[in-house]
Amino acid sequence: MTNETVKALIWTGKTLEVLDQRQLPEITNYDSYSDAAGVTDAIKSMRVRGAPAIGIAAAYGVVLSVKQHLKSENWQQLVARDIEMLAQSRPTAVNLFWALDKMKSVLAGIHDDILAAVAMCAINIHADDKAANKKMGEFGADLLTGAKGVMTHCNTGSLATGGYGTALGVIRSAVARDKELNVFAGETRPWLQGARLTVWELSQDGIPVTLIADSAAAWLMKSGKIDWIIVGADRIAANGDTANKIGTYSLATLAKQHGVKFMVVAPNSTIDWHLENGDNIEIEYRTAREFLPACYDTPNSLVSAWNPVFDITPATLIDAIVTENGVVLNPYEHANGIRILQK
Ligand code: MRU
Repeated sequence: MTNETVKALIWTGKTLEVLDQRQLPEITNYDSYSDAAGVTDAIKSMRVRGAPAIGIAAAYGVVLSVKQHLKSENWQQLVARDIEMLAQSRPTAVNLFWALDKMKSVLAGIHDDILAAVAMCAINIHADDKAANKKMGEFGADLLTGAKGVMTHCNTGSLATGGYGTALGVIRSAVARDKELNVFAGETRPWLQGARLTVWELSQDGIPVTLIADSAAAWLMKSGKIDWIIVGADRIAANGDTANKIGTYSLATLAKQHGVKFMVVAPNSTIDWHLENGDNIEIEYRTAREFLPACYDTPNSLVSAWNPVFDITPATLIDAIVTENGVVLNPYEHANGIRILQK
């Protein structure tokens, strides 16, 4: 079985049920949210994470806000304030701002049955993301002809998207074609999206996977066991520079050294067409507590920690960018970067 069984977000029509990814794989627990403040907290605290899933959750957050405030005279102001709060939840994944902009245009354009209109928009954002993933899965799997092994980083599957996944969707599609593919997942320090989420998600769907320590990646490449590294993205600039989970840039650099190909898979909602290159992508820094031993987390401690959670891989290190609109090979060779994907 290679379909996806895991659901990060469930919309009930009244609430958003969010699978608490902080507790996986030990505990499978959904928290229920009925307002935008709750959804903002779910994103900030990383109960839900992954660029497309963050955007989808925020869209449902707007629906909950409209539902909560619609009877107030100043409901538009209250909803605008909630949208601003949702926008402040995490800075790097552009899907968040893309989804909020979509919700804002619905709010600006519709005058009757506004609740039904915003709900429909959020449901469509969710469904369209899953459909886009399935297309990317097929495009990406086409590139894996002849490949025996792949490595992925972070978690880019059903847990991180509307369903099926981006980089993990490509792996799902390749395995569904009965392809013998050895799949390696990096543990993805410090939050362990690979070790806690990716290997769990793949095993739920019957796909064998081998976990490696992040520091084993160079040696894995040197061993000749992998042909491609396949990752997702949080924001892609118009020239193909790609912000993704910290460690992606190291993997791309190592891939070049070892002749391993590097594929980025993301929906068009992850491309920030306003940015010519990756220089101005905001990188999120999270608390030192994510990995600093508690004994050093004291007021006069001499030990601190630096915790950027994304990095930017230059387009020159990327062999293929895959979206639902197609594939761009060697994006740095194109004068217009990846604008051919802009539809
Ligand atoms: O901090 P996270 O877990 O939200 O980071 C997630 C990633 O970096 C993913 O690779 C990216 O969002 C793509 S998910 C399809």
